[in-house]
Amino acid sequence: MKKILFIIGSLRTKSFNRQLANEAKVIIGNRAEVLELDYSDLPLLNQDIEQPEPAPVARIRKTIGEADAIWIFTPEYNFSYPGHLKNLLDWLSRPVIPLDYATPTCINGKRIAISGAGGKAATANCRAKLTELLTFIKAEVLPEQTGIAVPAEAWGTDVLILTDEQKAELKAQADKLIG
Ligand SMILES: Cc1cc2nc3c(=O)[nH]c(=O)nc-3n(C[C@H](O)[C@H](O)[C@H](O)COP(=O)(O)O)c2cc1C
Repeated sequence: MKKILFIIGSLRTKSFNRQLANEAKVIIGNRAEVLELDYSDLPLLNQDIEQPEPAPVARIRKTIGEADAIWIFTPEYNFSYPGHLKNLLDWLSRPVIPLDYATPTCINGKRIAISGAGGKAATANCRAKLTELLTFIKAEVLPEQTGIAVPAEAWGTDVLILTDEQKAELKAQADKLIG
């Protein structure tokens, strides 16, 4: 059974993006194993601490390497992706052996789907910039994406209710990732 690794780009307890990920998990059902990447202990990237590889970095690289595909659910922060997500991807982009740019990193060639819930732009700016970054670090970004403009009432209740059309978009992503 394929392993799909979820990466949630929000640290907020009641995160709409976490709710989106929960919905995606329901849609995947028993067609794949779904795991969530815990990167809460990842240090800020500092080239002084790259070697030896810090334990959280080694664990995260192993988890990424073992996944058949990745699904990122992220909010848009100031027209872009959140800083902690950039920090994670910066770590993944670096060679495990210093100056060894020939050996593929754990993210090279990895199939990645992107979804996001946010304001009126439905995270379009974030998703475009994330696509650019992931392509630069040689991941394979799927063209199918889901962008949710969180409805006005949800900002008061903290509960995200998806339309049938939005659920269909998530299903199209899931089908492609598992396919
Ligand atoms: C620092 C910061 C910057 C933000 N910038 C944007 C933005 O550019 N576009 C947008 O749609 N929402 C923006 N937001 C609002 C987020 O979309 C909103 O907080 C959303 O709920 C975050 O996702 P979450 O519910 O998964 O935590 C910003 C929020 C923060 C904290």
